[in-house]
Amino acid sequence: MFERYTEKARRLIFFARYEASDFGSSEITTEQLLVGLIREDPARFEKLTGVSPQLIREQIVREIPRQNPIGKSIDLPLSAGAKRVLAYSADEADRLRSRRIGTEHILLGLLREDDTPAERLLRQHGATLETVRKACADTNQALDAGDVAYPWYLDSDLGEPPEAPVQTSGEVVIEVEGLTKTYPGVGEPLHILRGIDLTVYKGEIIAIVGQSGSGKSTLLHILGTIDRPTGGRLRFGDQDPFALNAEDLAGFRRRSVGFVFQFHNLLPEFTALENVMMPRRISGHAGDNRLGVELLELVGLRNRLGHRPGELSGGEQQRVAIARALVNNPLLVLADEPTGALDNETGKVVFQLFERIQRGKNLTSILATHNASIASRCNRLLRLENGRLHEISQPYV
Ligand SMILES: Nc1ncnc2c1ncn2[C@@H]1O[C@H](COP(=O)(O)OP(=O)(O)O)[C@@H](O)[C@H]1O
Ligand SMILES: [Mg+2]
Repeated sequence: MFERYTEKARRLIFFARYEASDFGSSEITTEQLLVGLIREDPARFEKLTGVSPQLIREQIVREIPRQNPIGKSIDLPLSAGAKRVLAYSADEADRLRSRRIGTEHILLGLLREDDTPAERLLRQHGATLETVRKACADTNQALDAGDVAYPWYLDSDLGEPPEAPVQTSGEVVIEVEGLTKTYPGVGEPLHILRGIDLTVYKGEIIAIVGQSGSGKSTLLHILGTIDRPTGGRLRFGDQDPFALNAEDLAGFRRRSVGFVFQFHNLLPEFTALENVMMPRRISGHAGDNRLGVELLELVGLRNRLGHRPGELSGGEQQRVAIARALVNNPLLVLADEPTGALDNETGKVVFQLFERIQRGKNLTSILATHNASIASRCNRLLRLENGRLHEISQPYV
């Protein structure tokens, strides 16, 4: 049934997963689907239901812990109720002659689900199946009519989507099995990573979220081979980089991995272009600056090639750092809170650029972030907690 989902409906479920994980919930319930719907598209929600999304959201957020007590372990299947909602949504999509399930159909599905807090809240505020069905039928735009899919990021605060599809090829770039990292502590050893399994597909952008200190940076450093695991396996294709000697490993890393850090780590004495070209130079490809110029152009800094980091704003410095991370055309791009040191607006612009280039060049990236709207734009969301990765959303392949 999943292939029937539009991108918007997928994003809604993604938001629902995100909300559920925030509540430490063990399943996605109809309430979370409703909160996901509001997050996905508050304006359309209000138009279709005549109900203030803010009001509903506040009530739902109060309600969820009662329905779905906090503190259970995170393992997020759909609840039986949420599955029913999706089945109803498919039915509503058929009824409205839509080939795929859109967010509207999920709202209709929620309203058809009897006697749940989500449905009760909606009714209490005047939304009924009839009024929403009528609104859907009346508003052509509100229908995913025929084969015309929604412009999926239409109302995302991150603006227009990049052109390339988010679906990946299914080609495996990295495979991680049972990865552990332990530091000797005072007395007890510190188990930071307790067995990480992860398969990364070409073209994905994966977001890793988790509390400060949960080990996100540690994991990214190991994936980028700048730190070694205590146990487990890491493979890039069929290569085990940790089997290489130190010099070969350094060469492998330069060719295969691009890093973007929270603080850009640019060299202050060098110009933007020289900084971007530095990894090439170190790999022995000095000389031709064309690639660096092209990348700086892609991040919108064509006219700042000769400026030093001190002459650039924080956002511009981070754009230079992104260009630098990509100059060797890496197999894997790792970004550790790349927008963490930027204000919200600048962070969005920087991420948009990153995303556009990533999609355009079909790169593969993993980023650690605290920013929910950035996380929600990625193909896959993982949460690091107690040394383990929890899939908040499935790989989209
Ligand atoms: N060299 C080290 N020795 C001991 N503990 C460390 C070392 N490096 C990191 N840690 C600990 O590992 C944990 C995870 O850190 P980190 O990966 O930076 O988390 P995050 O990036 O999620 O904030 C923290 O508790 C940190 O104190
Ligand atoms: Mg960190």
